[in-house]
Amino acid sequence: MKNFPSIEDLRQQARRRVPKMFFDYAEAGSYSQETLRANRADMEKVKLRQRILRDVDQRDTSTTIMGEKVSLPLALAPIGLGGMMYGDGEILACRAAQAAGIPYTLSTMSINSIEDVAGAVDKPFWFQLYVMRDRGFMKELIQRAAAAKCSALMLTVDLQVLGQRHCDVRNGLTVPPEIKLKNIIDIATKPAWAFSILKGKRKTFGNLAGHVKGMENVNSLAQWTASQFDPTLSWKDVEWIKSIWPGKLFLKGVLDVEDARIAAKTGVAAISVSNHGGRQLDGAPSAISALPRVVDAVGSELEILFDSGVRTGSDMVRALALGARACIIGRPYIYGLGAGGQAGVARAIEILGKELDITMALCGVKNVRDIDRRVLADWDSNR
Ligand SMILES: Cc1cc2nc3c(=O)[nH]c(=O)nc-3n(C[C@H](O)[C@H](O)[C@H](O)COP(=O)(O)O)c2cc1C
Repeated sequence: MKNFPSIEDLRQQARRRVPKMFFDYAEAGSYSQETLRANRADMEKVKLRQRILRDVDQRDTSTTIMGEKVSLPLALAPIGLGGMMYGDGEILACRAAQAAGIPYTLSTMSINSIEDVAGAVDKPFWFQLYVMRDRGFMKELIQRAAAAKCSALMLTVDLQVLGQRHCDVRNGLTVPPEIKLKNIIDIATKPAWAFSILKGKRKTFGNLAGHVKGMENVNSLAQWTASQFDPTLSWKDVEWIKSIWPGKLFLKGVLDVEDARIAAKTGVAAISVSNHGGRQLDGAPSAISALPRVVDAVGSELEILFDSGVRTGSDMVRALALGARACIIGRPYIYGLGAGGQAGVARAIEILGKELDITMALCGVKNVRDIDRRVLADWDSNR
């Protein structure tokens, strides 16, 4: 995959290889996509400080995330339907992450199940939990993640209801795809994709199949999600989950300082400052603009992770400079997955790692753990 020099190149290749319904699903934000655009626009406003003559030989990008050693300050995000970008997509993405020495997060809404992934990889991975109405099933899922030796549980807290992506409605997104003429033509022009999906273990939500009623007759993904996801989700559930999950628990989807303060009091190991990649509350601030406020409020109490809008290694430096311990990426690796399966995900991680390393050198930093606000061009004015 060496002829794909950037995440944007992987994106273009994924667009060519993946049927429109699934590419659009991965690409889109909710409603008018204001927040999706703000994630990128605000990221690019954060300027880095160019430094010279500082001997930046022998750089080190390794660090820890919640105590786990990692080769890069990076983790792969949970992606519902990841296995629709490429057959067995979750297994392949997890293998690529583990080979690169970074964590992979399996979504509740994955195609491969927890057990499929656990049986196909060497090391523990993280599991992401969406809270559904059936708490008995939730408890079962948590126990399955514990039995699979998942090393952290990521509780996503910003999807108490589903933000609509208009393209999913227009495209009639269902899992597996409905046999309609439009879909048949689209799939027929994507033979490599179709072959990989046919070879894959599963064609629907692996963690839910056989457990959740109505799975077999999904008319629209949005309708089904609305019927299963629990809008009563509250801080009490965080306590409940903490009481039954034996390992590290962290929250993904914190954007507000008041919420961050409450989260810190619950004793979770970390929070991820995130707006779900612009897929939930449209009109919410960009994640990068929310990050420094959250770090200032609770950064001394727990680890702050960051996602939503990272596309380059310099974006990683920006987020780290503003106080994140590590970044979590969604679309960048999903583009890699659609572009070339495991090799594509490996390439996405390699691209970001190399860009991070070069950016560190040009900012005069040798160790990723030394990245702080002094790396920002407007640091003087922040002093
Ligand atoms: C196609 C797609 C599916 C997603 N599915 C989930 C999911 O199942 N669970 C979850 O917590 N977040 C999910 N997210 C959000 C990501 O985990 C992450 O927050 C987001 O992608 C980060 O933004 P980025 O794509 O700009 O890197 C999804 C995002 C995308 C793009």
